[in-house]
Amino acid sequence: MTGRTVDEITGGRRMRRNRRFDWTRRLVRENTLSVDDLIWPIFLIPGENRSEDIKAMPGVERVTPDLAAKKAEQAAELGIPAIATFPNIDIALRDDTGSNVLAPDNLINEATRAIKKAVPEIGVITDVALDPFTSHGHDGILRDGVIVNDETVAQLAAAAVLQAEAGADIIAPSDMMDGRIGAIRDALNEAGFSDVGIMSYATKYASGFYGPYREAIGTQDLLKGDKRSYYIDPANSDEAVRDAALDVEEGADMLMVKPGLPYLDIVWRLKETFGMPTFAYQVSGEYSMIKAAAQNGWLDGERAMMESLLALKRAGCDGILTYFALEAAKLLRQP
Ligand code: PBG
Repeated sequence: MTGRTVDEITGGRRMRRNRRFDWTRRLVRENTLSVDDLIWPIFLIPGENRSEDIKAMPGVERVTPDLAAKKAEQAAELGIPAIATFPNIDIALRDDTGSNVLAPDNLINEATRAIKKAVPEIGVITDVALDPFTSHGHDGILRDGVIVNDETVAQLAAAAVLQAEAGADIIAPSDMMDGRIGAIRDALNEAGFSDVGIMSYATKYASGFYGPYREAIGTQDLLKGDKRSYYIDPANSDEAVRDAALDVEEGADMLMVKPGLPYLDIVWRLKETFGMPTFAYQVSGEYSMIKAAAQNGWLDGERAMMESLLALKRAGCDGILTYFALEAAKLLRQP
């Protein structure tokens, strides 16, 4: 007995025709990654002309504000639109309430000033969560074992104004407290910063992929318990849409999903639902997995990097926060 021919099975339709040549593949390509899609997260340490390697993130370093300005110059030369800064605060300055976030000249604000002075044309996005500043590594104020919402929100709003005064273009609250977007919007407006934008970490998951970041900002030994009482349960997606809807109503200009690759479905749902500028944060664990496998010769690191970034675009991202930004930009820049 002979089966049907392939043309009988497909009715003559053959998907491989369009995949035959490089030029046909380029013609039918639906998504592309460009330098304009990249936001580069940078880790900060106090001092001058100093950098430190981060063991859990091969190729990523922490740098002093003067060197952060140099990195910003490099990024701008490659056409990267924006950088995002994350401070590793001196342990002596960390306390229960994260009070150093309210020091106008704290590390993150000092870095913003240095970067803006050196490279005014690059966008500076600052995170306004408390975790780099607290002695317990939580994103909010801890009282009797509870992360208190409203008091934290008031402090974040005040900190956002200081970050805007230092020159931040976009405030990106990553703390997941309720009501923070509206409170930050009000505070910015009252202080005369109605042009400063808010990129909401709208759907930030209680994820295991943040591990290397905690080494980067020195919270790995501080953090007691976990962040499940304020980040979203990885099992949930309707809840993510609802949370994002509140942020949109409260005045967010852009939405972010974090982590990235394990949450492509969330990127897709948010983009479909709100049509807002939508970003993903390819977090430290995602970066380090690719780097570590590449270092072991287990996969082609460049290829996996570019594929992961393209996948985020395909899912609906307008841009991606990624530790690969500089490397990817260099590749994209090659003729
Ligand atoms: C917390 C914060 C986190 C990251 C950035 N800000 C998560 C956390 O420590 O719980 C993670 C970034 C990364 O993993 O690359 N406000």
